[in-house]
Amino acid sequence: MTMDHLIVHEAHNVAMRDTPQHFYDKQPSRGSYIKNKDQYTEWYNQSINNPEQFFGNMAREYLHWDKDFTKTLTGSLEKGDVAWFLNGELNACYNCVDRHAFANPDKIALIYEADDEKDNYKITFNELLTRICKVAGVLQKWGVKKGDTVGIYLPMTPEAIIAMLAVARLGAIHSVIFAGFSAGSLKDRIVDAGCKVVITCDEGKRGGKTVNIKRIVDEGLNGVQSVSHILVFQRTGNPQVPMTAGRDYYWDAECAKQRSYIPCVPINAEDPLFLLYTSGSTGSPKGVVHTAGGYLLGAALTTRFVFDLHPEDVFFTAGDVGWITGHTYALYGPLSLGTSSIIFESTPAYPDYGRYWRIIERYQATHFYVAPTAMRLIKKVGEAEISKYNISSLRVLGSVGEPIAPDLWEWYNEKIGNENCVICDTMWQTESGSHLIAPLAGAFPTKPGSATLPFFGINAAIIDPVNGQELTGNDVEGVLAIKSPWPSMARSVWNDHQRYMETYLKPYPGFYFTGDNAGRDHDGYYWIRGRADDVVNVSGHRLSTSEIEVALSEHPAVSECAAVGIADDLTGQAIIAFLALKNEEMEHPANPEDLQLLRRELIMKVRGSIGPFASPKSVIIVEDLPRTRSGKIMRRVLRKISSNEAEELGDLSTLANPEIVPKLLSAVDAQF
Ligand code: WT7
Repeated sequence: MTMDHLIVHEAHNVAMRDTPQHFYDKQPSRGSYIKNKDQYTEWYNQSINNPEQFFGNMAREYLHWDKDFTKTLTGSLEKGDVAWFLNGELNACYNCVDRHAFANPDKIALIYEADDEKDNYKITFNELLTRICKVAGVLQKWGVKKGDTVGIYLPMTPEAIIAMLAVARLGAIHSVIFAGFSAGSLKDRIVDAGCKVVITCDEGKRGGKTVNIKRIVDEGLNGVQSVSHILVFQRTGNPQVPMTAGRDYYWDAECAKQRSYIPCVPINAEDPLFLLYTSGSTGSPKGVVHTAGGYLLGAALTTRFVFDLHPEDVFFTAGDVGWITGHTYALYGPLSLGTSSIIFESTPAYPDYGRYWRIIERYQATHFYVAPTAMRLIKKVGEAEISKYNISSLRVLGSVGEPIAPDLWEWYNEKIGNENCVICDTMWQTESGSHLIAPLAGAFPTKPGSATLPFFGINAAIIDPVNGQELTGNDVEGVLAIKSPWPSMARSVWNDHQRYMETYLKPYPGFYFTGDNAGRDHDGYYWIRGRADDVVNVSGHRLSTSEIEVALSEHPAVSECAAVGIADDLTGQAIIAFLALKNEEMEHPANPEDLQLLRRELIMKVRGSIGPFASPKSVIIVEDLPRTRSGKIMRRVLRKISSNEAEELGDLSTLANPEIVPKLLSAVDAQF
């Protein structure tokens, strides 16, 4: 872990914001579930002091169990053997669909807002149940059973949700791969998870453009023997999209053969529900393992209490189902509570910047959940569109994925919330499964820029990264860790429990390490400062600089490279890649366009290896990289130079090649 960007902040004197009266007036029950700070504190203390009783009661209240659990919690963070709801059995699909389909068959479960607004439609809980059963029937026929892994590579359409729940219905494990990943990234994930079946579509539609989804699948799965069947949803129906006989089958044709109801397969609370791959600071992506019982409870409880979501509300998560936000807050949270969820396939800019606001007006959405990066874009280029729509149905505005700067918080509050809403800045991770630190809407005051207070059961701690000691009391800065197990925490890394231990539980024994720098202010409110490792957050997408470096170094011209994340006005962070070439003469070619061409090629290399969202903002070709005497690249120097903070380079005494610094400075100057 690098210490060099651990910034110590002065006490934050931002004023607390009380919940606006309009928020309560607009609520169906004229009051939030958690009434005030005292009630939050009482529940929070119970959840920490007696987690077995607290979460045992919650699990029985909010989830349907086919078999009751016999013990609520065992294991410790120290040993990495945490287990919740032992011997309990349940099915996530039953909890999200069947029980609501029986109670309220005609209630809307999913609202599909398609890329082209003409293609929008809604699905009731009853219809959703039938559609899931048919897909589950197909999978069952192909031999998918409890514990098998199924890959899903689909854009944000109802079929993605149906596919996930069909897999869960059979007690199998879904592994969704974001449909922006390249063929190579898809392959790595499918192979690592050992998927037998992949569910995908012919082509995707996004921002009016067609994406060749199936072609990427064909390329990625070429030679992958473990995949016996591919189910292809015809999103566009283009007959040119190739199908491999004996392996590829059309969704509609196969579903037509299946019954409308097949039973759920209950699984143990500790059996995996899904894998989701995420980037760490080193090595290949990790398949984060989430369990059926604990994960589902975390999703349901945070959705209910953080967002104060009532059954008649309409929840709009702009995040894609390819990331954890889509899993927890487009699918499992809202549907487990029987609430309607909007599935948005397009972009905030298509066909114009009024898209989000039109959706909110059209469906009277009460909750809107988005990454700050989208708000920065709207603020910059699409603000004029907001006033054209009536978005007064909104009550809660969520923010996720990266810190929201206080000025953007204020803008969100005024322009979108009309100062009538609660802003929920929610800090969490793929590994945490659900919110770690977030306001409980209506329960206590917020503070612009702070994720506020820990959720029930989250025993948050700030640790001094130098000596590993917990810093108690307020007004402290360090790294964020969690001191006791919570139900939705990841239980393992797929096929690599040792890596799980080393990444999360070994850095500070007895604690779960989040990887983030954070502070706790004089009011006990938490401020997330950004990652303490080499993870970069571009537009809310998590990337590791080492993944990007691996992709770049595969290019034959590159001898060595280092990627760093720097602050960016639009995307939060952006990637700057520094590289030295094998053939030094190429650094000063006779024709400068050759260099330009090479830079473009290198950017394409990253897009091709990982996906378009990982593109470096700049590629800077240098003679050499700054390194220590032991040969380690000093990324801190590169970060400071590309952030225009050259005067703060700090201690350079360990630098083996100080003469490189002025050269790096002029190379950066020439680029920006
Ligand atoms: C990392 C996790 C959580 C779903 C999307 C991202 C950063 C997340 C916040 C926030 C400041 C945040 C952290 C975290 N992060 N939410 N509200 N304020 N930083 O999930 O891809 O697993 O990334 O995102 O650095 O560790 P992820």
